[in-house]
Amino acid sequence: MGAAAAHVLVFPMPLQGHINVMLHLATALAAAAGVHVTFLHTDHNLRRLGNAAAATTAGSPRRLRFLSVPDGLPDDHPRSASDVPVMVDSLLGAGQAAYRALLGSLLVGSGGAGGFPPVTSVVADALLTFAIDVAEELGVPALAFRTASASSLLAYMSVPRLFELGELPFPPGGDLDEPVRGVPGMEGFLRRRDLPSTFRRHGNDHDVHPKLQMLVDLTTGSCKARAVILNTAASLEAPALAHIAPRVRDVFAVGPLHAMSPAPAAATSLWREDDGCMAWLDGQADRSVVYVSLGSLTVISPEQFTEFLSGLVAAGHPFLWVLRPDMVTARLQHADLQEAVAAAAGHSKARVVRWAPQRDVLRHRAVGCFLTHAGWNSTLEAAVEGVPTVCWPFFVDQQINSRFVGGVWGTGLDMKDACDAAVVARMVREAMESGEIRATAQALAEKVRRDVADGGSSATEFKRLVGFLQELAT
Ligand code: UDX
Repeated sequence: MGAAAAHVLVFPMPLQGHINVMLHLATALAAAAGVHVTFLHTDHNLRRLGNAAAATTAGSPRRLRFLSVPDGLPDDHPRSASDVPVMVDSLLGAGQAAYRALLGSLLVGSGGAGGFPPVTSVVADALLTFAIDVAEELGVPALAFRTASASSLLAYMSVPRLFELGELPFPPGGDLDEPVRGVPGMEGFLRRRDLPSTFRRHGNDHDVHPKLQMLVDLTTGSCKARAVILNTAASLEAPALAHIAPRVRDVFAVGPLHAMSPAPAAATSLWREDDGCMAWLDGQADRSVVYVSLGSLTVISPEQFTEFLSGLVAAGHPFLWVLRPDMVTARLQHADLQEAVAAAAGHSKARVVRWAPQRDVLRHRAVGCFLTHAGWNSTLEAAVEGVPTVCWPFFVDQQINSRFVGGVWGTGLDMKDACDAAVVARMVREAMESGEIRATAQALAEKVRRDVADGGSSATEFKRLVGFLQELAT
């Protein structure tokens, strides 16, 4: 008898960094024998992606389809980076109700040729714990997918222990360079400043700050799921994975997923990619360009923009800079930013785009280093290509990711909390010119590529995950 037909509903948080990686997961799952996948967007994102559904029929596996639920916000809401809390609240309300109704309807399969069997499991973004709870209430087993690093998960899991040890809350005005005890496996190198940014917030007296408490609750909620899936690899985070394993029902480390399933089944970019920058890169010498991108959510002040710009110009290398239209606060228009960059660096030495095809850029021979906010996807994308990174972390997991880059893997430099033009210039020069950093980055890239290749740890874990999902379908 063949394996029962598995039908997995994949539900990402409707944010760029989450959609990208979960679509890679969905694509890889739908390529496995007998697995059907429904990928759940919000109505708004599905429209914005410009008929991802059409792309499905055109080029992607027939066992992958796209459905959507409303996010509860009006059509004309900007949904910009600073609106994320509003988006999350709204999703919890209208989105949750629509998700419940949709999941209920998927309990019955759609018949006919190309029909989908009844849904047999849910893989929900770990930040959408309601999606896990609702699924289990309806009798559908649910797994949690965390888009961030294993190390950041372990840090959140360790919060009660950090309070017990008196490591939290940080003493007001205390030295952020003090080492931290209580996050297992990281005691040799973790400092206060390397813990996720939310750990720096103080509650009343000795209470946990509500924002940190919310993240701890989300961690606890998601870790109750049937399993936790992580977009990471043994060669990057084996010790953290070993400490997480006994604290969850099961864990699958299947990343970096973009290297496992290189071509996602449909469009994932919420912004239009400016392909012109690839031609610009073609005209540059090997390893001569600094690629600068701070991800999809970071918002910087005009002062920070000026510091970056001065540092980049002083570093003396040509640069390609992603400046999203919603990225710099205050009244600065995109054209003003472009003009400021051109005036400071000269047209031939700098190129500004609103959004780049990042993975292609990082793969380009002209790129010598990556100045990044150390979001986990960007960190993984640089790791796979062996590109040295300079990290300017902003929030949540970025502080711990950048510590790994600078203090554990040695694949780049971590400028956290010392972000002025002189530091930018010095670190960019060092990352561009240090043979040692490049060699270390390339050596790590080889290990990571082995993890995702046939027989590697991530590929093996992925097969185990497919078996697990098939088992849930019987
Ligand atoms: C945030 C967190 O920082 C991250 O750690 C968490 O796991 C998810 O939420 P974000 O700020 O979007 O994510 O950064 P990152 O995780 O690096 O994801 C950005 C994605 O957008 C990457 O896949 C990157 O390739 C892509 N990107 C970015 C582009 O395709 N083009 C660009 O111009 C910039």
